[in-house]
Amino acid sequence: MDGNGNSPILSVRNVRKYFGGIKAVDGVSLDVASQRITGLIGPNGAGKTTLFNVISGLYKADAGEIYFKGERIDGLSLHQTFQKGLCRTFQISRELKLMTVLENLMLVPPGQEGENLWKTWFIPLRVRRQESEIREKALQALDSVGLLHLKDEYAGNLSGGQKRLLELARTMMAEPELILFDEPGAGVNPSERRVLAEHIRRLVSEQGVTVFLIGHEMELVMDVCDPIIVMDRGKKLTEGSPEEIGRDPRVLEIYLGGGSQ
Ligand SMILES: Nc1ncnc2c1ncn2[C@@H]1O[C@H](COP(=O)(O)OP(=O)(O)O)[C@@H](O)[C@H]1O
Ligand SMILES: [Mg+2]
Repeated sequence: MDGNGNSPILSVRNVRKYFGGIKAVDGVSLDVASQRITGLIGPNGAGKTTLFNVISGLYKADAGEIYFKGERIDGLSLHQTFQKGLCRTFQISRELKLMTVLENLMLVPPGQEGENLWKTWFIPLRVRRQESEIREKALQALDSVGLLHLKDEYAGNLSGGQKRLLELARTMMAEPELILFDEPGAGVNPSERRVLAEHIRRLVSEQGVTVFLIGHEMELVMDVCDPIIVMDRGKKLTEGSPEEIGRDPRVLEIYLGGGSQ
């Protein structure tokens, strides 16, 4: 239970992921409360992205347990966690940049290879729904992130911040309950970052999704996340409100100390 009496939507218990001798995630336990924006920060190499990869099922944990809505999900694939409503964002790939914003949300390009959620995302959608329904849904998703006016623009022509909003809109097509968002502020200028922050907040307040967000820019994290969890060298260092984290000398030290290399 959290302070508001809500049970967490996501619970991570003693999760470990090593790569050879590298202890990327070294016994992490944490909870993510429903319908909030929880931040995850820490220096480069702290294990944040690896933790997201393990939670989403891209990597298998070496040890530990992960629960989503009370159900154990460690051992499930990316596809399976996705179908349960746990979605991580992926950067708009080179192929997707050659398509329009609307097509990015609608099309299944044939023969795609590599990190492709496409197939897992959109083929099931297509089977279930008529094209017109998918289009309607795509337009709504674009509207909800403020990109409707750019629907016919090539994705490659979008600014950094708009690309991040497009990633978010693609994720929303899957009707997620929990979105894992890795560094949404990367490559985004400060004024666009404020727009992005506002849209993330609105997805939570208006559509009831839960967001777990890895942040690099303290400004974005401090602005939208509460609580904030801090990782260092594969472990959870601390957790608290933005105010608590902002004045924690240990947090300052790991950032000024140049990370965990
Ligand atoms: N697929 C991988 N293979 C080998 N080492 C990896 C892999 N992914 C991450 N690592 C290593 O795990 C550690 C944590 O990396 P990462 O999770 O990307 O940290 P962060 O996202 O906090 O910067 C780093 O030392 C990184 O080099
Ligand atoms: Mg990372």
